[in-house]
Amino acid sequence: MTAHILDGNALGQKLRAGFKQKAEELAAQGVRPGLAVILVGEDAASQVYVRNKVNACAQAGFYSEKYTYAPDVDPQVVFDKIAELNADAKIHGILVQLPLPRHFNADAVLDAIAAEKDVDGFRAENVGALMQGQPCFIPCTPYGAMKFFEEAGISPRGKEAVIVGRSNIVGKPMAMLLMHAGATVTVCHSQTKDLKAHCLRADILVAAIGKPKMITGDMVKPGAVVIDVGINRMPDGKLCGDVDFESVKEVASFITPVPGGVGPMTITMLLANTLESAERTLNA
Ligand code: GUN
Repeated sequence: MTAHILDGNALGQKLRAGFKQKAEELAAQGVRPGLAVILVGEDAASQVYVRNKVNACAQAGFYSEKYTYAPDVDPQVVFDKIAELNADAKIHGILVQLPLPRHFNADAVLDAIAAEKDVDGFRAENVGALMQGQPCFIPCTPYGAMKFFEEAGISPRGKEAVIVGRSNIVGKPMAMLLMHAGATVTVCHSQTKDLKAHCLRADILVAAIGKPKMITGDMVKPGAVVIDVGINRMPDGKLCGDVDFESVKEVASFITPVPGGVGPMTITMLLANTLESAERTLNA
């Protein structure tokens, strides 16, 4: 069997075309969706992600602002900027790119973002709302993964879902979304014994580990749906995921590639959340 490829560029383009249309309709009513992105430090990957987010805004007809700070900036400068953006009616979403330098208290920074502008969905209340199944901003990467299931007609209901990685950004919210969608969820992590045995039970396998090609074909149940959240740069400069694409595609029924899978969908769902936030101001 060779897996169907879940193409994040194609699905992202399709959804973004709809967002552009909606942004034009909102603009005609005096509201242009606006996103502010804050980047602290010089992490090369973060610089690329932030650039892609700002470019995606421009392509969808959204307004955006970008603020970049030196790695040793006084955290108060960032808190002051967030307070200013919280009060700025042009801005409907505020995103602080993670990771932050070590002298920052990242939780305090995220909690400083106004709840109604927390388009990453990382604030404590938002996380609580997600856990309770209340309306909230869904964190963009797991939201993008759920869109792949929807698009491919894959229902998580009754399925065994195994997530490898327990981060706040991906693993934990992914577990909540799959649980709400009716899957039986296992979250594996660095302390898990016999990872392979867990993975082999998975009808849906989500890899969010940060280790290149760690999930190999012998760890995947035939016919599984495999979502690869990893983006790793190899010594030759090429990008690869946490999944060994070549061996896993021979076993899985569906697989996301890297690049061109989850990455573009993360940005697409950031636009979705920003648009939703802008729409709410119109209906407020
Ligand atoms: N760093 C890695 N992924 C993300 C994300 O989805 N949002 C933010 N803010 N930072 C990240």
